[in-house]
Amino acid sequence: MSNGFILVVDDNPTNLAVICQALRTEGWQIRIAMNGEDALRKATQNPPDLILLDVQMPGINGFEVCKRLKADEATSDIPIIFMTALSDTDSKVKGLGLGAVDYVTKPFDQQEAIARVRVHLQLRHLTHTLEEQVRDRTQALSQALEELQHSHLQVIQSEKMSALGNLVAGVAHEINNPIGCVVGNVSAVEATIKDLFGVIDLYGKHFPNPGAEIEDELETVDLDYLREDLPKLVKAMRDGSDRIVCISRSLSIFSRADSDRKQAFNLHDGIDSTILILRHRLKANKHRPEIQVLMDYGDLPLVECFPGQINQVFMNILANAIDAIDESNQGRSFIELEANPNWIKVQTEIGVNHVQIAISDNGFGMSQEVRSRVFDHLYTTKTVGKGTGLGLAIAQQIIEEKHGERSK
Ligand SMILES: Nc1ncnc2c1ncn2[C@@H]1O[C@H](COP(=O)(O)OP(=O)(O)O)[C@@H](O)[C@H]1O
Ligand SMILES: [Mg+2]
Repeated sequence: MSNGFILVVDDNPTNLAVICQALRTEGWQIRIAMNGEDALRKATQNPPDLILLDVQMPGINGFEVCKRLKADEATSDIPIIFMTALSDTDSKVKGLGLGAVDYVTKPFDQQEAIARVRVHLQLRHLTHTLEEQVRDRTQALSQALEELQHSHLQVIQSEKMSALGNLVAGVAHEINNPIGCVVGNVSAVEATIKDLFGVIDLYGKHFPNPGAEIEDELETVDLDYLREDLPKLVKAMRDGSDRIVCISRSLSIFSRADSDRKQAFNLHDGIDSTILILRHRLKANKHRPEIQVLMDYGDLPLVECFPGQINQVFMNILANAIDAIDESNQGRSFIELEANPNWIKVQTEIGVNHVQIAISDNGFGMSQEVRSRVFDHLYTTKTVGKGTGLGLAIAQQIIEEKHGERSK
């Protein structure tokens, strides 16, 4: 057997000579130690595949050597075979109790001793091979799992994005025509109303006494009130439709279908459109006042990126902030929250060759444990149906892989 490096420990030179001679005939490599201390030193310096250990030795005896070897991680798995006198049953039992794998009896039966040594060397070799195989397999499996999770994320990400993106882009597109019609016509209505009042005024000027029927009617409809109110109604319509245009534009920006090439994108547009889409969640409800969104925007240049994906990142992070705030608010009254308003802060800044976007909230924050796991696939602290544990894993993938150094 190739890996047969044996340390033989015995204080008796005659014994040593006999056993070494026998072992050498098998082609094993032998090293000897003549006392316990020497044995410990040699075993630690250059760990053998097996140790043949005498029990009775001056100084540190065999049992103590065995104990110390087992206690040291570097030597604990070296198989130890005790050499004991034939009649000494106590020693045999004690030796096995201390972790020895076997014993051989003195005087030696050469055949038997060699057979035992061979079995234990083989066992050790097999154990090692097995351990190695297990290690390799485990590594291969965890790598496969990681790859699987990875591609899983990509599938979810791309499916979700394309389904959502198509839907949102479709809605935005469909809204554009009718709302364009409203916006265009509101101006025409304003002009027409002005004209109509002009005509009425002209009639009044030329026919100051139009007769009882017309005068009664003018009183009933309250012409002066109409003159004042109608432009207000039209203005409200104009404001409403302007908002729809704004929302529709945000939807288009948010869902910007990503081409396979990066494009120059105004990140602030991305953040603004995401916030607008999340407005219904930010607004006041019966549990709390509106969440304030504080923007502290730096002077960012256009950034080459995949805008749809970057918006997805903003969405995942901002939605988490709202979730965290809502959860932190539990048990607090509306009045209490009015005094300490909830906020989400978005700060952007330009660095030497990077832009930095920091999003913070005044929710309960994250413990060290949560912080170390937030990017883990499927890690969530939220109830089923509320959290998927994919938001930040996807965000990380988008930033690091699609936009990081490796993506260049
Ligand atoms: N703003 C935040 N405040 C506190 N905890 C957060 C915040 N953002 C993320 N977390 C924690 O990180 C976890 C993982 O987030 P995420 O990957 O988006 O999955 P999910 O939102 O579906 O739970 C959350 O369950 C939450 O515990
Ligand atoms: Mg989330």
